[in-house]
Amino acid sequence: MKCFYIFKDKFKPKKGSNSAPEPRNQNRLDNNSALNRTARSLPSPRSIPELYKEKEHHLRVFDMQELREATNGFNRMLKIGEGGFGSVYKGTIRPLDGRGEPLVVAVKKLNNHGLQGHKQWLAEVQFLGVVSHPNLVKLLGYCSTEDERGIQRLLVYEYMPNRSLEDRLFSRAQPTLPWKTRLEIILGAAEGLAYLHEGLEIQLVAFDCWKTETCGAALFLVIYRDFKTSNVLLDGNFKPKLSDFGLAREGPTGDHTHVSTAVVGTYGYAAPEYIETGHLKSQSDIWSFGVVLYEILTGRRVLERNRPTMEQKLLEWVKQFPADGKKFSMMIDPRLRNQYSISAARRVAKLADNCLKKNPEERPTMNQVVESLKLAVQESEQGSSSTTTAAKTPVTSSSRLVDRRSKRVQV
Ligand SMILES: Nc1ncnc2c1ncn2[C@@H]1O[C@H](COP(=O)(O)OP(=O)(O)OP(=O)(O)O)[C@@H](O)[C@H]1O
Ligand SMILES: [Mg+2]
Repeated sequence: MKCFYIFKDKFKPKKGSNSAPEPRNQNRLDNNSALNRTARSLPSPRSIPELYKEKEHHLRVFDMQELREATNGFNRMLKIGEGGFGSVYKGTIRPLDGRGEPLVVAVKKLNNHGLQGHKQWLAEVQFLGVVSHPNLVKLLGYCSTEDERGIQRLLVYEYMPNRSLEDRLFSRAQPTLPWKTRLEIILGAAEGLAYLHEGLEIQLVAFDCWKTETCGAALFLVIYRDFKTSNVLLDGNFKPKLSDFGLAREGPTGDHTHVSTAVVGTYGYAAPEYIETGHLKSQSDIWSFGVVLYEILTGRRVLERNRPTMEQKLLEWVKQFPADGKKFSMMIDPRLRNQYSISAARRVAKLADNCLKKNPEERPTMNQVVESLKLAVQESEQGSSSTTTAAKTPVTSSSRLVDRRSKRVQV
């Protein structure tokens, strides 16, 4: 799957620094827009970089030597993944006070992508330095140096033993993800996204009360912009956590309906109106969420070029199996072997259809999505006759042809 990047913003990192450099003109919003339902009256909430300044001490600043030791010299045996921006290694670090058990971490080492890479690294540090929710991955610290080999940018996260939803959903080498686990994962991911869209208000109000006593209406909207299965990481209990905030943007403020941006994201997941116009709204995330809902129902990737032509595009293929139709169950991932709730599955498919409405204004909000998924979870728990949850026998197979992992790359 090809991905797209067009960068307009010019941005220059500081040289030779060992701490997070400050952005220049970061997250400036354009003024060319009308009213948006997500924008409300604001006593000028502070920007992410401003908030980050107050909270940055929560992040640990590593030096390169520490991270080399942590990953045994970025040993290939410890490599656990590779994305569009670099490699991820499993590592162990000593606790800050030197006492207690070593901590298992994931270290992401950015390839040298110049200013683009730096900008996304910085966005990640700043967003994850500010936001906090059980369904967002925890950033423990970072490393930023410039040595004889050039600029080095690294991020250190809590380690997620069950890797990503992508690995678990599509890999034939992994046991099938049971229906109930799928629903719980997508519900948790929805809660993480709802927090970014609509939950930051509370946190910022408390922050404001504490500092300036301007309680009340501060709303802070973050648009995630890269919702896809590989960015939903899974902890030891399969609890989901969103990762990768390199593309996240502060949402529109005041009277603005959208943020104008260069179009970035991953093909297959980005909302069509965003690709066409570059106008970014929270509803773009809802579209991506709808895509992932269908991936979870079908066990198919949004694009699978190795399938027959009519089946390559998931969103086209699923149209033959409407949520209320007789053929609906033919769409469901065969690896579930009928171990699912048909009524909950229909509910999820209808929700996906709503998320994928052509008109962004007709899509549900993330809070509505969360409520709908909670009902689906309840339905799955109750309806045990037409359904069973949790497949007991893990099934593996290597027969299905799938497309290459989707990566964000420049075209
Ligand atoms: N904190 C973590 N704990 C455990 N594994 C991780 C962690 N972060 C990333 N990974 C693994 O590394 C893989 C690569 O992650 P990365 O975010 O670099 O790329 P990606 O999401 O696959 O692609 P893209 O660059 O398009 O976002 C993930 O799919 C996951 O398997
Ligand atoms: Mg990722």
